[in-house]
Amino acid sequence: MAVLFVILPVLGVSLYYSLGKIVYDSIDSSLLSRAKALATLVLSDNDETEFSFSDEIMWEYNSPKSKSFFQIRRFDGTTLEKSTSLRDGELFFPGNEQQTSFKSVMINGAPARLIDFHVPDENASKGKEHGLIIQCAEDIQDQITLLKNYRLILSLSILSILIISASGGFIIAKKALTPVKEISETIDRISESNLSERITSRHIPEELRLLASSFNLTFDRLERSFNRQRQFTADASHELRTPLSVILIQSEIMLRKERTPEEYKNALAAITEASKMMSEIVRKLLTLARLGADKVDLKTENIHLADIINKAVKLLTSFAEQHGIRINVSADEHAVIRGEQETLLELFSNLIDNAIKYNVPQGKVYIFMKKEDGVAVTEIRDTGIGIPDEDLDKVFDRFYRVDKSRSKLRGGSGLGLSICNAIVKLYGGRIEIKSRLGTGTTVSVFLKEGRDNNMHI
Ligand SMILES: Nc1ncnc2c1ncn2[C@@H]1O[C@H](COP(=O)(O)OP(=O)(O)O)[C@@H](O)[C@H]1O
Ligand SMILES: [Mg+2]
Repeated sequence: MAVLFVILPVLGVSLYYSLGKIVYDSIDSSLLSRAKALATLVLSDNDETEFSFSDEIMWEYNSPKSKSFFQIRRFDGTTLEKSTSLRDGELFFPGNEQQTSFKSVMINGAPARLIDFHVPDENASKGKEHGLIIQCAEDIQDQITLLKNYRLILSLSILSILIISASGGFIIAKKALTPVKEISETIDRISESNLSERITSRHIPEELRLLASSFNLTFDRLERSFNRQRQFTADASHELRTPLSVILIQSEIMLRKERTPEEYKNALAAITEASKMMSEIVRKLLTLARLGADKVDLKTENIHLADIINKAVKLLTSFAEQHGIRINVSADEHAVIRGEQETLLELFSNLIDNAIKYNVPQGKVYIFMKKEDGVAVTEIRDTGIGIPDEDLDKVFDRFYRVDKSRSKLRGGSGLGLSICNAIVKLYGGRIEIKSRLGTGTTVSVFLKEGRDNNMHI
């Protein structure tokens, strides 16, 4: 619109001026040829100047209503001859002009165009004042009216084009922006209150469908992640509440009256147990938070995977012995991966811990690790209770336990496998679980083998 508002008036003005110039040029050239024609009819002989104007020529000038005029003067201004059409009037005479020139003047109250045509005397010795000035004029009222009308039509057209395009543009823009406004209002509503609302308007044009569906997909993801977060917070609080209430109840009971040393001892043991449980949950939550951060800061180095596995087994040996479980390790000494001690130890100790915890008395745990096409594959197989098929894809969820009552007895929080999953993902690897109820479970971990692997973190 701004461009139109500049261009159209400029175009109008230049169109008007070029037409004006064409009109004036044609009047001027016709005046010039008239003056020249008159000049040929002037016979100058010494001091006598005669005119051989035929009636035919004079008819054009001498009718009282004629719109053509002439006046012939000497250089000093004295009039030698003039047309009857001038009646009592005279043509404007500037006096001191040196050469042929054109002017716009008024004759008998009407606008006219005038030429002062200089005809010097052939006999130059007589001086300049003996030359003639042939003045020719023509009424240009018609041409001026034409130009005036042209100007009026031009300005009206430009004005109406501007008005039409401005209002049209406004209406079209408004119409085009209405769905955008609707979408943005819906988005405002969604982010304010309920994440479950979606952009559904039927007025959305084709071009904006893609945008709307992208927004909807984003909201889907946001809603899911919000719900997961909410669930996670609820679960975390729930998990922490149990040991907390054990601590509270035990302490309150003990404080109610004087107790025997034996009773204090038992209560403190229960409190210690509950505190350990809480501290374990908090530790795991912190690990998860660290692993889930946008940018995980790992202190990576080249690590012999066998060392880590042996370390993890060593950490859990006494726990295994308590349950009479034997651990059998067979690991490739040469498998090296790029990684961080702490997270890898966390990964394998969680898996081995599960293999012991969910085993049968006198059960066995087999750990195999080998290199396979640039990947270090670790298998942790137990002879335990197994996992029902319908729970297999949920065990990686946070706080998910197959059998809550049984697992709590064994001190699990349901965070172990989700930590393992997060760690393996961080290393760009993969974790798989296979199980048969009553026979045992096999967890396989695939990690990129090699000393200089760039991890995608
Ligand atoms: N080796 C296994 N054998 C049988 N069940 C298992 C095994 N590993 C994990 N599970 C099941 O998966 C659930 C989730 O495991 P995990 O995330 O490590 O939590 P936790 O060990 O704290 O219970 C466990 O509660 C258990 O029911
Ligand atoms: Mg576990």
